[in-house]
Amino acid sequence: MKHPLIFGLQYGDEGKGKITDYLAQQADIVLRFNGGNNAGHSLWLNGKKVVTHSVPSGVMYSHTRNFIGSGCVVDPIAIKKELEELASQGAGVGPDRFQIDFRAHITLPIHLALDSSREQGARGIGTTKRGIGPTYSTKADRTGIRAGDLLSDVAEDRVRFLCETYNSLLKHAGFLESSVEDNLKAFREAREFLRPYVSTELNPFFELAKTKKILLEGAQSILLDIDHGAYPFVTSSNTLPAYAAIGGPMPLSKIGNTIGVLKAYVTRVGAGPFVTELNDETGERIRRKGAEFGATTGRPRRVGWLNLDEVKAAADLADCSALALTKSDILSGEEKVGVYSNGKLEFLPGWTDIKQGEVLHPNFKKFLDLIETVVGRKIWVVGTGSDREALYWHHTAKDFWNSNVSGSAL
Ligand code: IMP
Repeated sequence: MKHPLIFGLQYGDEGKGKITDYLAQQADIVLRFNGGNNAGHSLWLNGKKVVTHSVPSGVMYSHTRNFIGSGCVVDPIAIKKELEELASQGAGVGPDRFQIDFRAHITLPIHLALDSSREQGARGIGTTKRGIGPTYSTKADRTGIRAGDLLSDVAEDRVRFLCETYNSLLKHAGFLESSVEDNLKAFREAREFLRPYVSTELNPFFELAKTKKILLEGAQSILLDIDHGAYPFVTSSNTLPAYAAIGGPMPLSKIGNTIGVLKAYVTRVGAGPFVTELNDETGERIRRKGAEFGATTGRPRRVGWLNLDEVKAAADLADCSALALTKSDILSGEEKVGVYSNGKLEFLPGWTDIKQGEVLHPNFKKFLDLIETVVGRKIWVVGTGSDREALYWHHTAKDFWNSNVSGSAL
């Protein structure tokens, strides 16, 4: 058995949660392998929208186990809040269903202070201010604090050293320091609350991958990858599917279908180049209709037409097997729909509705054909609305664990 992986092909916010949510129903385990609470996955529970940030999307199903992999970063205070909110909405998870790898790094107040101080200066890139960059930086600097440190009695010294080292930077830049006391307080609160959730297994999935259905959940997207995205306007983790082998850690040979999610148009939060950006009424209309405001920060997202050159490059880099297209319904009613490919923007005639009875609207079908041709992959499934069931299977739905969904070359 091989295990499917869901990831984003644009700038995040592609609607991965919807596709993950669907596959999570069939999974035994949902595994997040990168990023932290910079992500915002909108899910549906009993007809109500629920946004998760760190906790994997399998929490909505009582039969799934949810795991935050070694390649993630975790803000303990934020995750506590998230778990409490989930519990109040009827999706509570205890340590039997939710675990954090002991190697995942912990975000403390000093990381938040560093992120926000950088963002206030001229070199800010529009981060989510969740301390993601600094937490990955201190990991690389070997001064970071890991979830496993919550189990140790000597880790408080490491917290002190972390603060001393990085407060000098804050001070130098003229910002308020993040006091050792505040960081120790957060660390102790984290220890109190998160300890039971920390997994100390060295290789948690080697055996499980033989018998249990695992769903690999990527956060952010290929174009935000620290190595392969539009640096420096990127996040601080690797988002490529290959990273699941490290950030799971998932046995490499067990990673199966890689389903790349793309939205029918592009959104981007934060700074950085955006060739197809719409700074006009059309952009405003799509933003409003698509509710394109950050699930984590509430920021209005920048909006533009679909850029297939970027998607093709991202799909090739990721070695993507098949595509999932979301939010095409938001473009329903547009007279013409812009698509950028081969270095130029063209307009296709729009569609009033995605489907006409049981068949696709011919103009929408043309849109799908163009995506498949330029990107060179099949669109497996199309999201047709915000409800959990609003999916159209463009190619026959298969068992994603036991079959190869890439199909024949297009
Ligand atoms: P950071 O990950 O908070 O450091 O932010 C770095 C860049 O990635 C910024 O442009 C953010 O807006 C973007 N980013 C991070 N996470 C997400 C996400 O889940 N969706 C969309 N953009 C994101």
